[in-house]
Amino acid sequence: MPYALITGASGGIGLAMAHELAQRKIDLLLVARSSEKLFQIQKELTERYGVRIEYLSIDLSLAGSAYAVLDWTIKNNFSVYILINNAGYGTWGEVAETPLEKLTNMMQLNMLTLVELCHIFLPQLKKQPQSYILNVASTASYQAVPTLSVYAASKSFVVLFTRGLKRELKSTPVSVTCVSPGATSTNFISRAGLDSMKERAEKFSMRADAVARIAIRGMFGKKTEVITGFANWLSVQLTYLLPKFIPEKIAESLYKNKS
Ligand SMILES: NC(=O)c1ccc[n+]([C@@H]2O[C@H](COP(=O)([O-])OP(=O)(O)OC[C@H]3O[C@@H](n4cnc5c(N)ncnc54)[C@H](OP(=O)(O)O)[C@@H]3O)[C@@H](O)[C@H]2O)c1
Repeated sequence: MPYALITGASGGIGLAMAHELAQRKIDLLLVARSSEKLFQIQKELTERYGVRIEYLSIDLSLAGSAYAVLDWTIKNNFSVYILINNAGYGTWGEVAETPLEKLTNMMQLNMLTLVELCHIFLPQLKKQPQSYILNVASTASYQAVPTLSVYAASKSFVVLFTRGLKRELKSTPVSVTCVSPGATSTNFISRAGLDSMKERAEKFSMRADAVARIAIRGMFGKKTEVITGFANWLSVQLTYLLPKFIPEKIAESLYKNKS
């Protein structure tokens, strides 16, 4: 039986997706940097669900890392029928004040590696009777977010890339879905450098398992775009209706003085 490959599988949303798929008796290939965490997750999921779990510890923000993932699957004879591009992060700060390497690292992970993984896994995904790509964007992708400008733009890229790819593949067995979570309780806030907002954010955050359930259901339902939770869906609809400067000003006041 072919595997589901999940990037960022040790984090809040990725790990919840791993549980969601393992419950359905789907074997998993888990990818992230921390081999210690991946080892623990492999042990826990194997014992709990009795599925096959393999993992690869790799930094996906390094150029060429997507090819290393493909090589690992080829060398081990792992075939993939679900590809979940979930690894990603945001970094808070004004563009001019942020070291360029930080921004390019984030863009490599959030956009380039995601496109590369889709591209190089497509030949084997097309050979399956039915296969899936699930790309993780964000509700931040629907508007500009000052101080998270590059992050929001990178997630906008994910939405448009995914929509285009879906249409390109409409006569193939590959179904392509984009999921946009809103605030979700994970390590995301800390990695973005927004710890001071954590308490406030938690009040509006969804649980990672709820987000994962909606995302996986959307993927198997062959949806094009999924926004997790009614409140998030409503806020995205408002960004379409309102003049652009209004949601941008709201985001600016939310994030600029983050404490
Ligand atoms: N949480 C939110 O509020 C929220 C909202 C909207 C969208 N999202 C999106 O949801 C996705 C998952 O984020 P999360 O909230 O679950 O955050 P998280 O808890 O920080 O998890 C991130 C995952 O990505 C992995 N990762 C990070 N950098 C990596 C790298 N360079 N190479 C390989 N793996 C890497 C992390 O593992 P290692 O650190 O061990 O590598 C971890 O498994 C991201 O794409 C994020 O942008 C999150």
